[in-house]
Amino acid sequence: MENGSKKWGFQANKSLSTASAVTVRGVLNVLLDNLNKEDTRQLIPLAHGDPSAFPCFRTTTVADEAVVDAVRSAKYNHYAPTVGLLPARRFCGGMNLSVSLVLLIILLLLMVIKPFRLFRIYDLLTRDGLDRLFRHLRNALVQSRQPLLFDMNALPTIGSTTLEDLEVFIRVSSSKTMIKSGALSWSLIGNRSVADYLNRDLPYKLSPDDVFLTLGCTQAIEITIIVLARPGANILLPRPGFPYYEARAAHSHLEARHFDLIPEKGWEVDLDAVEALADENTVAMVVINPGNPCGSVYSYQHLQKIAETARKLGIMVIADEVYGHLTFGNSPFVPMGVFGSIVPVLTLGSISKRWIVPGWRIGWLVASDPNGILQESGVVESIKGCLNISSDPVTFIQGAIPQIIDNTTEDFFTKINNILREAADICYEKIQDIPCITLPHKPEGSMFVMLAKEESVMILPGTAVGMKNFLRITFAIEPSALEVGLERLKAFYGRHAKKQ
Ligand SMILES: Cc1ncc(COP(=O)(O)O)c(C=O)c1O
Repeated sequence: MENGSKKWGFQANKSLSTASAVTVRGVLNVLLDNLNKEDTRQLIPLAHGDPSAFPCFRTTTVADEAVVDAVRSAKYNHYAPTVGLLPARRFCGGMNLSVSLVLLIILLLLMVIKPFRLFRIYDLLTRDGLDRLFRHLRNALVQSRQPLLFDMNALPTIGSTTLEDLEVFIRVSSSKTMIKSGALSWSLIGNRSVADYLNRDLPYKLSPDDVFLTLGCTQAIEITIIVLARPGANILLPRPGFPYYEARAAHSHLEARHFDLIPEKGWEVDLDAVEALADENTVAMVVINPGNPCGSVYSYQHLQKIAETARKLGIMVIADEVYGHLTFGNSPFVPMGVFGSIVPVLTLGSISKRWIVPGWRIGWLVASDPNGILQESGVVESIKGCLNISSDPVTFIQGAIPQIIDNTTEDFFTKINNILREAADICYEKIQDIPCITLPHKPEGSMFVMLAKEESVMILPGTAVGMKNFLRITFAIEPSALEVGLERLKAFYGRHAKKQ
C-alpha cells in the first residue's frame, strides 16, 4: 500500500504513446481542441481527408444497395474466413445455381464412390476455384486416410453456392469437426472481386489466393509492417508521407529510414537517396501513388525506375494505392503491380477513397508477384499467420464487395474525379493570390496538396506528414466551401503578414 492506495501491477505502455506521437489523427485532435469556440462561422475542414460528409461526394447508390442486399440476404451473419470471403477476392465470373448444384452432387458422388477420380475432373475443369477445391479434397483424403464423412445437416437447404463454401464444408467435414448449420455462406456466385478489379490493369492475372481482405488499407499497412519486422531490419519511407507507416514501424521496432520526394520533379522519389539509404538489412520501400500528401501521380517510366532500383537492392516495393484511379491531371494511374515481374510488390488498397466510404473499413493486401518470390520466401504464409490473429473486416461488407465492384458505373468515378479536378483548380488559382504560400506542384491525383508556407495558419502542419515549413490541405471538400476556406486563409495572411 502506498499513501493508503493499492499498488497495482499494471501500468501504461509508454512505447504506444511514443509510436503514435505524430499521426494525422493526433494532430487533427490538437487543432480541433484549439478552435475558437466563439467563432460561429462554419468550420472549413481543410486538414481532414474525409469527404464523405459532403453531399457532392456521396457514394454511389450501387454501393448502398449492395450493402443493404448483403445484410437483408442474411447470408453474411457468420464469421468470415481468415483471408476474406472468396467471392470478394476471386477473379473469375461464377457459375449459376444449377451448375453449382450439379457440381456439388458429382463431387459428393465421386468422393463417396471413387475419390481418386477427382483428379480426372480436375484435368477437365481448370477454373482456379476448382483447382483450390481439389487441392483441399486431395489434402483431406491424404490426411484422413479413411473415407470422408460429411455432416449432411451442415449442407444448406437451398441456394447457390460458392466454391469456397464447398471448400470450407469439405475441409471442416474431413477434419470431423462439428460445423454449425448455417455457418457457411451460400452466397451467389457470378460476381467479381478485388482480384478481378486489379486484373483490369495488370499484364498478368492475380488469383484470389493473392488477395487478402483487410480492415481498410490501414490494416493492410499494419499487417505488412508486422510481417516485415525482424530484429535489425529497416524500411525506407517517403518524406513527406503518411505517418501511420512511421507509427506502425516504431511499434514493431522496425527502423524507418526516409528518402525525399522532390517537389520540383512532381514529388518523384529521390532514387539516389534510396540507394544510399539501403543496406543488407533493408526489407522494403514504400511508394504512395497517387500521393498523399503531395497529390502527385507517377509516370510509368518513374515507377519502372523504382522497380528496377528495388530489384537491384533486393527489396520489395510496398505500393500504397489507396488513392488508385483518383487522378484528374495529365498522368494516368499506373499500378505498381505492372512491374511485379521486375520486383515483388505488395499492393495495398481499399474502397475508402474511390468509393468515398472510409467508414466501411474494407481494404486489401495483394501479392502482385507473378514470379512467386513472396510465396517462396514465406511472406505470404506470414501474412496469413498475421491475419489469423487479427480482426476481420465485417462479413456483410465483404459480401457486398462483388456487387459494388461489378455494378459501379464509370459515371460515378468520372463525377468524383471531375469534382476533385475542379477543387484542385480552385486551390491552384486561389493560392496564387496568397503571397505567403506557394504551391510547388499542382495536384494531379489523390485528395491533397502540399503548400510551402512562411506564416503559420490552422491547417494540417507539414510536420504531421514529415515536412517542416509546409502545410497540407485537402481539396476533397465541397468546392464552394473550399473557396471560402482559401479566402479565409488569404484574409489571415492580410492580417498577419509582416510589413516589408
Ligand atoms: C496514404 C494512405 N494510406 C492508407 C490510408 C488508410 O486508408 P483506409 O481508410 O482504407 O484505412 C490513408 C488514409 O487516409 C492514406 O492516406
